[in-house]
Amino acid sequence: MVHADRLRANCPNEAWQVHNTSIRGFCMLRTNSISHAAMISTSHSNEPGSHPGLLYSPADLARLRADIQQYGFGDLPGALSPGLLEALQREAESRLGLALFAEQSTDLSYRARLTSLGTTAAALLNGPEARALLRAVFAEELTLSESISCLTFYGEGDYLGAHLDQPAADCAVTILVYLAARGAMSPPSPDTGLVLRVYSAQKPQGEDARLIIPTRPGAIVVGRGSRVWHERPQLLPGEQVVALTGCYRRSDSPVAPVQSGVA
Ligand SMILES: [Fe+2]
Repeated sequence: MVHADRLRANCPNEAWQVHNTSIRGFCMLRTNSISHAAMISTSHSNEPGSHPGLLYSPADLARLRADIQQYGFGDLPGALSPGLLEALQREAESRLGLALFAEQSTDLSYRARLTSLGTTAAALLNGPEARALLRAVFAEELTLSESISCLTFYGEGDYLGAHLDQPAADCAVTILVYLAARGAMSPPSPDTGLVLRVYSAQKPQGEDARLIIPTRPGAIVVGRGSRVWHERPQLLPGEQVVALTGCYRRSDSPVAPVQSGVA
């Protein structure tokens, strides 16, 4: 269990805040929304519009829709253009020093390092291409819940236990963007942490995942994370993952007054 006071002591200048006195969720650390919004509006050369953006075919989209309908999650391998992936990787690398270590072993179980989205990541997840993708998949308007979206670093031994993304109203849909995935054996170990295991609407009780999505750089995962249980297994020695998590609420949903949750 990591407590808020410990996080503040470790990183007193970090703009993040912690709700209540302990970390009850994974992406629940929240940014100062005003300064963050300003960062997005003033981004320039790294905006998605200055890169080719997202790359996927109608067939990719059809498969994504079908997987989401069947399993609640699906992915678009290689959806990030090389230029955008490189820009996001550079930004993530520059933010590694800002990331806070978070660990909890009760209720929701996790261990990882987290920080807020950088300008390039926020511009992507908030931008027209991500919205268009979500509209094409779900046929509704969705808005990024920035305060519970984050950049996550997983290293050896890190993991994110089985969970639903919360609060559900702010996480009607979840996007995961994989920026780095290192250390995979060939063929992959069955115990690798370089996968997302997707279960059902029922909390898993030791059964096999219904869907296993490999974690590959440049891929985008889309899912109904607040309805379908999912987890990242513990990373093996030498394995690393860097990922963005974007939580989206329905555009006609009010913004929740209290920001806390897990994504
Ligand atoms: Fe999640």
